[in-house]
Amino acid sequence: MKIGLAGLGIMGYRIGANLVKAGKLDVVYNRTENKTVQFSKEYNVKYVKDPTQLIKEVDVLITMLADDEAVSNFLTPLVPYTKGKVIIDMSTISPSVSINIAKKVSENGGYMYDAPVIGTSIFAEQKKLTVLLGGPEEKVEDVKNILSETASTILYMGGNGMGLYAKLVNNLMVGVYVAALAEAYNFGVKSGLKPEDVHKVLALYGSAKSPTSELKVPKMINNDYSTQFAVKHMRKDLEIINKETQNVKVVNPLSSIALQLYRMVEALGYGESDYVSVLEVYKRSNR
Ligand SMILES: NC(=O)c1ccc[n+]([C@@H]2O[C@H](COP(=O)([O-])OP(=O)(O)OC[C@H]3O[C@@H](n4cnc5c(N)ncnc54)[C@H](OP(=O)(O)O)[C@@H]3O)[C@@H](O)[C@H]2O)c1
Repeated sequence: MKIGLAGLGIMGYRIGANLVKAGKLDVVYNRTENKTVQFSKEYNVKYVKDPTQLIKEVDVLITMLADDEAVSNFLTPLVPYTKGKVIIDMSTISPSVSINIAKKVSENGGYMYDAPVIGTSIFAEQKKLTVLLGGPEEKVEDVKNILSETASTILYMGGNGMGLYAKLVNNLMVGVYVAALAEAYNFGVKSGLKPEDVHKVLALYGSAKSPTSELKVPKMINNDYSTQFAVKHMRKDLEIINKETQNVKVVNPLSSIALQLYRMVEALGYGESDYVSVLEVYKRSNR
């Protein structure tokens, strides 16, 4: 069985590294060629310059791309080559977009899975990602077998799109939570508390501490906006949540407000920075 990977960004590069080390990656592709060349040199894996060549060469194609547009533009032209093949899309995109592509793949005799992940680049490096899987039951065990080389937990959620809905549930929560952490942190420090003491409350002993506050509050203290998960991706996910909650006809007041905050910090120039930089909106908004 030959396996290919398209998308060597922050996550794809690390996921690819885990698969190579397990002997489960044969060929890679990335839109910007220098990342492909670098990966190929570092891990001694073949690379191709053309997505069509990639799909023709493999039985399983894993994609880890940015957003709806990237996945649609990349996968749609490849649908005619998917007969008998398995596509595993690990990107976080709109369930409706993924379901649409999956339908076309299925009509062509292929199998598509949405397999978005919980966990940042650090989790990817440690093979500790959680995958939320959606797609036909038929090949679930094969998919789990491959992804177990980069994930410690794989949860099958149901048919196409269900992995993505589950991922959006998670990101609605962390998007709102990190914005709330920034608000609470800013309030604490401007009140005269030492940053280390605010850290103790939010990340160590307080009643709302969590793995996310343990990870993000030290970044707030150190003004460390190095990217684990970019503002532009959180903004994108909250936009998808806004759209999908309308489709499902539920209200989403908290995630709507969080979306505005991430749009504001992106407009301040932090689009590529970690989403903890939402703190800047608060720091710069003294009354
Ligand atoms: N980073 C995290 O902590 C994290 C955690 C969970 C989920 N995710 C999700 O995982 C996905 C990837 O995240 P990431 O952090 O790895 O993003 P990233 O570093 O920005 O990488 C994005 C990848 O998509 C490719 N791409 C973008 N637009 C494209 C297009 N139109 N056609 C073909 N390729 C295109 C990029 O290629 P180029 O190199 O040419 O730009 C790059 O390989 C996103 O959906 C994100 O929401 C990320």
